[in-house]
Parts: sequence; structure tokens; C-alpha cells
Amino acid sequence: MAQQNIYDNEKFFESFKNIRADEINFNDLIETPILLGMMPGLKGKSILDVGCGMGQHAKQYSDMGALSVLGVDISEKMLAFAKENNSAPNIEYRKLPFEDLEKLNGQFDVVTSSLAFDYAEDLCAVLKKIYALLIPGGKLVFSISHPISTAYDGVYDRYTRTPEGERLYANLHNYNIEGLRKFKWCVEDYEVYHRRLSTLINDIVSAGFIIEECQESDLPEEIIRKYPDKFGGLYHHPDFIFFRCGRHP
Ligand SMILES: C[S@@+](CC[C@H](N)C(=O)[O-])C[C@H]1O[C@@H](n2cnc3c(N)ncnc32)[C@H](O)[C@@H]1O
Repeated sequence: MAQQNIYDNEKFFESFKNIRADEINFNDLIETPILLGMMPGLKGKSILDVGCGMGQHAKQYSDMGALSVLGVDISEKMLAFAKENNSAPNIEYRKLPFEDLEKLNGQFDVVTSSLAFDYAEDLCAVLKKIYALLIPGGKLVFSISHPISTAYDGVYDRYTRTPEGERLYANLHNYNIEGLRKFKWCVEDYEVYHRRLSTLINDIVSAGFIIEECQESDLPEEIIRKYPDKFGGLYHHPDFIFFRCGRHP
């Protein structure tokens, strides 16, 4: 399975760190509230955060009463930031790509992953490894870029606009062709995997999971009103999709 580690690229890391530090960022305003709203109770639970990045979520799970949180990631820079800024006695950070999750011992009550599976070439294989790490009845809660949002070619505008520049329609590029997509985000040749919605659902089900809940991100009206320059007119499509999946009891 191909792996990429763009987060250890100096330019990308600095740029991503600045986006995450800006108080007006998609993660904190839009993604995190939905993800946390789909979590089962975490009090006393053992949590695995796959692609934990800078550890903001791991810290939240610890603050929510988790017994232990293990955050794994492929990027040394992200893990170093997490250790320095989001540590707690019950949080451990470890370098481990999600393609190698079978190397972990033990079982978890809850596995979670926030916007990391965009980089998984074979998502079903990763999900099967997660299924094996969950206790019977355990939950997987994850977010991933929405297939509508990854159906993009990186060349043309994502939107058809009025002459005044207002977003009129969202454009889709080759939605039915799956695989690696390259576009400019923090660096010139940012890469994510595009999957059709049906593939995403079938990957989850083929890994053995029961899908319990699915959500698509939506920009709350008050956020559009508060930050019109950044979010004005962004009603056309969801940026992220979320699933809560259960391992069979
Ligand atoms: C968009 S960031 C999200 C970080 C964190 N989950 C958050 O929500 O703030 C994606 C993360 O996935 C990690 N990642 C990418 N490929 C990975 C892989 N093969 N195994 C583990 N982590 C990976 C990156 O290093 C990065 O930290």
C-alpha cells in the first residue's frame, strides 16, 4: 500500500500549523462539533486516535474522561507538536502508520479518526485492522473529506460563479473515476484519494462494521453570518462526511 507523509514536509507543516492556529478554521468550527456529537460516552474508555496529528482531539478525549488515549500518526512533526502541546498523563503518542495497525497489541473501546483517511489508498484494509482492534460492540467514529469535495481536478475553479464572483454552482470533476487526486493546498501537489460514496460505504460494510450513524457537514448559519468573507455563499456541498460504526457485539 502506498504511504505519503506530507505533514513532515517543512513548508506543508508550517502552513498547516498556521491554518489550524487561526481561530477561523474548518476543523474547530465545522468538523470537531459534529465528530464529538457522534461519540459514544468516553468516560472510563480506552481510545485509539488514528492519524491523531497535533493531538487536539486526543486532549479533548482525555478531558472528556477517557481512561487512556493512544494517538498514532505517521508524521514525526505532528507527533512532536502533540507531545509538546497536548499531553496528559493518560495520553500516549506513537509513530505508527495506519497501514501497520496490526502491530498494536490490546483492544480498544473506541477507535476514532479525524480527516486522516483521505490519505488511505486501501481504506477497507485499514478498516479491517481497526475492526480487529475493537472490543465486541466497540465503536469507530471517523470523518473524511466528502466524495463531492474530492471530485476536484485542481485546475479549474471549484465553483461556477456569477460575473460578480458569487458562487452559483459547485463543479464536480470525474466523480466516477476513483483514485489519487492532486491539487494545490499548502503545497502545489497535495494528494488525497477520491472514492465514490458507494465505495466508502462498501469499504465500511466489507470490513465487518454496522453503520449506526452518518452525518454530512453543513455550515451553521451563525458562522456564515459571523465570517462572511471566508464562508459566504458556501451552501453548495458538504466538505466532510462522518460515520459512527459498530463492531458486532
Ligand atoms: C488533516 S490531519 C488531521 C489531524 C488530526 N486528526 C486533526 O483532526 O487535527 C491528517 C493526519 O493524518 C496523518 N496521516 C496521513 N497518512 C497517515 C498514515 N498513513 N498513517 C497515519 N497517519 C497518517 C497525517 O500525518 C496528519 O497528522
